[in-house]
Amino acid sequence: MSYPTTARWCKALMACAMLLSSYAGAADKLAHVTILATGGTIAGSGANSTTTVGYTAATVGVDRLIAAVPELAKVADVKGEQVFQIASENMSNDHWLKLAKRVNALLAQPDVDGIVITHGTDTLEETAYFLDLTVKSKKPVVLVGAMRPGTALSADGPINLYNAVLLAASPDAVGKGVLVALNDQIHAAREVTKTNTSTPDSFKTPELGMLGYIQGNKPYFYRLPARKTTADTEFDISKLDTLPQVDIIYGYANANPVALNALVSAGAKGIINAGVGDGSLAAPVKEALIQARKQGVLIVRSSRVGQGIVARNGEANDDELDFVASDTLNPQKARILLMLALTKTSDTKQIQRMFGTY
Ligand code: SIN
Repeated sequence: MSYPTTARWCKALMACAMLLSSYAGAADKLAHVTILATGGTIAGSGANSTTTVGYTAATVGVDRLIAAVPELAKVADVKGEQVFQIASENMSNDHWLKLAKRVNALLAQPDVDGIVITHGTDTLEETAYFLDLTVKSKKPVVLVGAMRPGTALSADGPINLYNAVLLAASPDAVGKGVLVALNDQIHAAREVTKTNTSTPDSFKTPELGMLGYIQGNKPYFYRLPARKTTADTEFDISKLDTLPQVDIIYGYANANPVALNALVSAGAKGIINAGVGDGSLAAPVKEALIQARKQGVLIVRSSRVGQGIVARNGEANDDELDFVASDTLNPQKARILLMLALTKTSDTKQIQRMFGTY
């Protein structure tokens, strides 16, 4: 090879090396975000493009979810991991313990800056709150889902996933507790809830308000969670393999205690009463709850209303009955806090304090 040809090769190789190192430099500057996929509609598929109900959840794997949104590579260095592949009505305490342990292990690594969890929307708020109480890191953890399967016209999964990764990669999301990102909005795990069976704007934070928006490739925060979250909580699931059995009973006109008594017989350690109004209890149910408490079962008065504080000593004398009032937690989230509380204590005063803290 003559000298000019060799020089040209060398120049070309150097240019290649510089290009590669500039890509590597750019990748180094991007935050490292791990996507933990658990299933749900965001990984679902339907018979055709107009199928927005009656589709199958949890059919698409994490690699395809990531490949469907190449724009992710511009905002983060993304890795994917399939943790479960389920519709979220099948989410269980065992899944939560496994997920929380995996999140904690990943966030302890210096090369992980944030986590995104793709999840079915039906119980997304519960998983978010469980992680809000059990993740031991200030790094961002963002839950995301979709109300429409990926095969639908105007599927919301890809933009929701993009926004969630953007948020998990953002320093603005550090220390704000576990976040939920759907429909261009950012919500706090404790207060967000699913409010509509099927529309894309289903996730809301009634009355207290969402935390912010994601717009133009940027998260905008306007408020912060007031309760303790993540690294500031007293709960440690690292050595737990199970959680205490806590169940929910529902209040309605003409209520009877049959379901409650069956749950207590089946070994419930705690009962959340999703009472009417301000956590009011029908007389036969109240009597059965009093008996259950005498047997050592922890009783939390919550409300089926979905908004407002259940007042301690309001519609029942909690001091006298040794019951706990749920504050603003909806029944499904009160169940999570009571399970975790029971891993620490069975003292109702302590548990009432926790309901005022988290
Ligand atoms: C599910 O929760 O897994 C199904 C519904 C959804 O993701 O929207």
